[in-house]
Amino acid sequence: MNIGVIGSGYVGLITAVGLAEIGHKVINQDIDSEKINKLINCELPFYEENLEKLIQKNTYINRLIFTTDIKYLVDYSDVIFIAVGTPPASDGSADLKYIYQCADDIAKNINNYKIIVIKSTVPPGTCKKIEDYLKEKIAQNNKKIEIDVVSNPEFLREGNAIYDFFYPDRIIIGTSSYKVQNVMRQIYEYFENSKVEILFTDRESSELIKYSSNAFLATKISFINELSILCENIGANIKDVSKGIGLDKRIGNKFLEAGPGYGGSCFPKDTSALYNFAVKKGVNLSIVESTIKANNNQINYAIEKIIKILSPIEGRIVNLLGLTFKPNTDDIRESPSIYIIKSLLKSDVYIKAYCPKGMPKAKKIFENEPNIVFCENIYESFVDSEGCIIVTDWEDFKNIDINLAYQLMKSCNLIDLRNIFYSNDKVKSLFNYYGLGVPANKNEVYI
Ligand code: UDX
Ligand code: UDX
Repeated sequence: MNIGVIGSGYVGLITAVGLAEIGHKVINQDIDSEKINKLINCELPFYEENLEKLIQKNTYINRLIFTTDIKYLVDYSDVIFIAVGTPPASDGSADLKYIYQCADDIAKNINNYKIIVIKSTVPPGTCKKIEDYLKEKIAQNNKKIEIDVVSNPEFLREGNAIYDFFYPDRIIIGTSSYKVQNVMRQIYEYFENSKVEILFTDRESSELIKYSSNAFLATKISFINELSILCENIGANIKDVSKGIGLDKRIGNKFLEAGPGYGGSCFPKDTSALYNFAVKKGVNLSIVESTIKANNNQINYAIEKIIKILSPIEGRIVNLLGLTFKPNTDDIRESPSIYIIKSLLKSDVYIKAYCPKGMPKAKKIFENEPNIVFCENIYESFVDSEGCIIVTDWEDFKNIDINLAYQLMKSCNLIDLRNIFYSNDKVKSLFNYYGLGVPANKNEVYI
């Protein structure tokens, strides 16, 4: 099938590459010409494992074409996926201006029946609104052309996006049209033989499934994060509490790792959008509201913890490991690290930052800040440091040479906000070790 995907971001590009790989002819369009030019040269606009070789393969066999020309995409495509950003508006609701921009572009260029697939995360009711808007715009252009708008949300995790495309837990499709259902079945025919469930539902339910999935995952994280503070208070161990909870198969052990709070372009945005959407409908989603509050509190708690441990912190040198909001990505959007750095800079702390993938994007935020440097080598960040702060749980950090790090530091304080070293006796024998919700630096072994 000839498919167009509008948007070459973390969602659109993965969707375009995945659809090409499963056999469709795909045009991926973006308004960002720099991004498109990179893609035409098979250069990645962002890091994602296994993405490069799939782009090379599918462009080579001419199943994947990149363009900035929206008219070309609309003319060419039987089905058009919209995967542009839905960033938070000032009131926390989802800003749909880019979705409507795509609708305008489609209305202007459409010449025959199309199915429009909303892949972006949008509030329930958006597909219906876009369908009505498109029909009105098409009529204004004196065209008698039918369209159908269908919901098909994505569940891609950054750093695992290619894997998640080919091995989804489920595919959700929101439409009330049997014709559209059949077309969507054809698009996802590749998954027919696998055990992936394709759930067909109405559009509003499909849109709500996406928001609710992210909100529930965020709630699990905020739940364990709040308990980590209680554990610090009573000397319990959140790693054991998390394991003990997660052994209950009804709860499961995923998304129960305490940390400095969740970040990324999804959880903060989607929890806020869902909460605001419900408020406007007169419904108070008190659990989602608490999840948001607990997350903001967790980041503040981590900052206060750092300042208390290293006080008097003014003028100190620290090294901060991990700028991305999670490992295996270069994305720093809503990363707790950024909030922590901004707060420490206000306290006149000198920061030596290191991150395997996040430094190029972080440099752009702090380029005018004299009190932060970005180290190309992790050990360089330890030199003269009076406190090492681990914010993101990159695998690289778990394998550092502990002795070398210890020798390079001026004061051996280790604030491990991801509990990477919580059970490492060697680390605890060398450093003043502070985890998050785990006993600090106590070495007594319970017999
Ligand atoms: C975003 C949201 O994070 C996600 O929740 C939503 O489901 C899809 O949009 P992401 O791919 O991370 O996902 O967004 P981003 O990386 O900002 O990419 C959006 C792309 O759309 C950008 O490359 C932007 O240039 C492009 N775009 C935006 C268009 O091509 N046309 C437009 O009119 C607006
Ligand atoms: C999320 C959803 O997982 C995905 O299904 C959806 O499509 C997009 O949003 P993503 O934001 O890429 O994916 O990352 P995810 O792995 O979910 O982590 C989100 C944040 O939660 C990160 O900041 C991570 O550090 C944090 N997290 C995750 C925890 O703090 N503890 C955990 O146990 C798991």
